[in-house]
Amino acid sequence: MTRSASRPTLQPHAPSGLAAEFAAAVRAGLTHAPQKELPSKYLYDEVGSALFEVITVLPEYGVTRAEERLLTRYAAEIVEALPADVVVAELGSGSGRKTRRILEALSRKRPTSPTSYCPIEISRTALQLCRRELADIERISIVGYERDYLAGLAEVSRQRKNGERLCVLFLGSTIGNFARLAATRFLRDIRAMLRPGDTLLLGTDLVKPVPTLIAAYDDAIGATAAFNLNLLARINRELDGDFDLRDFEHVARFNPDARSVEMHLRARRHVSARVGAARLAVELEAGETIWTESSHKYHADEIPAIAADAGFECAHQWVEKEWGFAESLLSAA
Ligand code: AVI
Repeated sequence: MTRSASRPTLQPHAPSGLAAEFAAAVRAGLTHAPQKELPSKYLYDEVGSALFEVITVLPEYGVTRAEERLLTRYAAEIVEALPADVVVAELGSGSGRKTRRILEALSRKRPTSPTSYCPIEISRTALQLCRRELADIERISIVGYERDYLAGLAEVSRQRKNGERLCVLFLGSTIGNFARLAATRFLRDIRAMLRPGDTLLLGTDLVKPVPTLIAAYDDAIGATAAFNLNLLARINRELDGDFDLRDFEHVARFNPDARSVEMHLRARRHVSARVGAARLAVELEAGETIWTESSHKYHADEIPAIAADAGFECAHQWVEKEWGFAESLLSAA
């Protein structure tokens, strides 16, 4: 199989800030050999985030419902296990729907004093949505941080008062979108910002039969396909690309070595495309793919060892058996 080298476009234009970062990531990913790839974080522009909300209610995608069942059932128990003077920080709050259970339980547990809730999100729209969704909960004061996860968490940790304990929420199995070693590194980075007695509530989707997993990432109405294809549409919109979306199909495949579901965009035929803002001309052979996301699946009993490796102790774990999802409360050792 031959692969043509990327050529500069004729009309380079220099993007700035976030667009420049996106352009550099697209250039690096689409010239990566032998496997072309794009970072999954770019799936979440306004359209992608709306499509992801659709995914969370699909019959095939049990992840979000399983976590909601867990949090509905055990929120009081989870909150009981937290120290009294707790500040809640959430990495990637999304719409805030799942967090409601925890915040309501905290509000009930502390009928006289308010609790600070600090959602950390790079998307301003998501922060606004989250604020609107959770505004009616009594005695919760919401302070949003429009930052990336670690920068936002560093700021929340720095700004807390003496004696306040942090509880970091990292829900929805977003940890699954990190490669395994990167996931441990990320947990270590979180741990480095915490003090002994702080906690991390970590949601992880569990290993399940391959056909169930594939259906969850390749649903019948094509919502996940649209979510995946939107990445090329976003490149067209924001980086002056000319991908013809009809040249690509969504593929979900299980990688047994990594225990992950991979999403790819496969070229239906030979493709030549240009991305003006990345000064890139890209060629794909028919059948060649662009790897856009991995979703790693865990066994509930491997979480304590991963946590220990990152400087946490697994204090409690709640497992939802109908779909297969675990919520683990990790304490900063
Ligand atoms: C956000 N994340 C945990 C989702 C997942 O299951 O990996 C993203 C997703 N991709 C396709 N469907 C859902």
